Amino acid sequence: MTDIVVHPLDRALVGSVPVPSDKSIGHRALLLATLCEGVSSLRGFSYGEDNVSTANAMRAMGAQIEDLGEGRLSVTGKGLFGLTAPQKELDCGNSGTTMRLLTGILAGQPFASTLTGDASLMRRPMMRVVAPLRLRGASIEGAPHPTKLSDVLPPLVVSPLPEGTQLGALGYASPVSSAQVKSALLLSGLYAHGTTHFKEPTLSRDHTERMLHALGVPLRTVGTMIELDPAGWSGKMPAFDIEIPGDASAAAFLVVAAHICPGSRVTVRGVGTNPTRTGIFEIARHMGAGIEIVPQGEQGGEPIAQITAWHQGLRGITISGEIVPRAIDEIPIACALAARAHGTTLIRDAEELRVKESDRITTMATVLRAFGITCEELPDGLAIEGKQGALEPARIDSKGDHRIAMAAAVLALGARGPTTIVDCDCIATSFPRFVGTLRALGARIDATG
Ligand code: S3P
Repeated sequence: MTDIVVHPLDRALVGSVPVPSDKSIGHRALLLATLCEGVSSLRGFSYGEDNVSTANAMRAMGAQIEDLGEGRLSVTGKGLFGLTAPQKELDCGNSGTTMRLLTGILAGQPFASTLTGDASLMRRPMMRVVAPLRLRGASIEGAPHPTKLSDVLPPLVVSPLPEGTQLGALGYASPVSSAQVKSALLLSGLYAHGTTHFKEPTLSRDHTERMLHALGVPLRTVGTMIELDPAGWSGKMPAFDIEIPGDASAAAFLVVAAHICPGSRVTVRGVGTNPTRTGIFEIARHMGAGIEIVPQGEQGGEPIAQITAWHQGLRGITISGEIVPRAIDEIPIACALAARAHGTTLIRDAEELRVKESDRITTMATVLRAFGITCEELPDGLAIEGKQGALEPARIDSKGDHRIAMAAAVLALGARGPTTIVDCDCIATSFPRFVGTLRALGARIDATG
């Protein structure tokens, strides 16, 4: 298990760096390329462990995914009905997206399957996908939840659809804004006899809709409402070529590092700037941060941009409402902004953070306090008092959560002495070159263990 030691910055962060390709788009590209007809080509694959979990699960069902090196993958599609029964449990590792999206696909198969994952994933709630999939005829069982009778945990056991039957129509208003729930239901809709109508409270990331639309799937969206009506559709999706855009969620750590470290100026290239993902940059701007976003056109059906961020004074704000799902993975690093702002920052409407890779509300409160920052844990967020001057050097337990480890590393740059962050292998789930990238910008970080 790797620990890292982050030394206080003795110079500003300066430079221009790339980021790994987008994790969410990577999952969807792998799943859909496997369900297409013909050979698809993926460029810029990140080799992040979560994406690798998706690739391996698809391989276990007969997908031919060939690594041509340097992030180029060749995926030979099996068509919508070409998957074969896995010989063992499908291991989704740490990846909730892998498990939930795959469940949508598996619900429509004529074979049985079981989905498992690591200790963190085995604690994450699954009824949010199981319940609506059952409504359209899927047979899925989970393990009992220790505290919430109405929920289930992995492993998920998906029974084969009875011979000659198909999933049915579904009209579903999701109580949570969740791209994983939305995507699972849309993917199951590819196998359904009947229409899928889906609605969510506010818009979550829309990569699945964009890709399905580009592949000719009869899907229409109006705001937060989606209709997928397969009547008259061939059921065939053509192979595609995609260069996966840079991950806005990974870029956020570097951008915020520049915002909070005196004198810094950092440029991040090729960042996906789909508006359902840019909440963190809007939050930063609202807090007074120095940020310039220069559009660079489109890549893989998504807008991309070059982002330059620099240090200047920040002020506390309230973060709540529709922006929260558009910044859901960036709330830990938004806490770092709040910790260095003048005044109080209030984060509300973020109860979803309690069921991520760790309980990110409690974990971030612990991290902030370890650095000497005053904060209050709320049921659905945090109240954080900004602190000027050097932070306390800390010893941080990442709780195996990649975004906690990276947020702590960014805060540690402004501490009075070295900070140790324990259990940092998890960073590889989304940003394998995080430490190297921060070092390239001028940080001093040792890896041990
Ligand atoms: C993701 C959706 C979000 C996000 C996760 C990736 C996706 O989860 O937190 O990291 O790729 O669909 P929810 O759908 O649970 O909000």
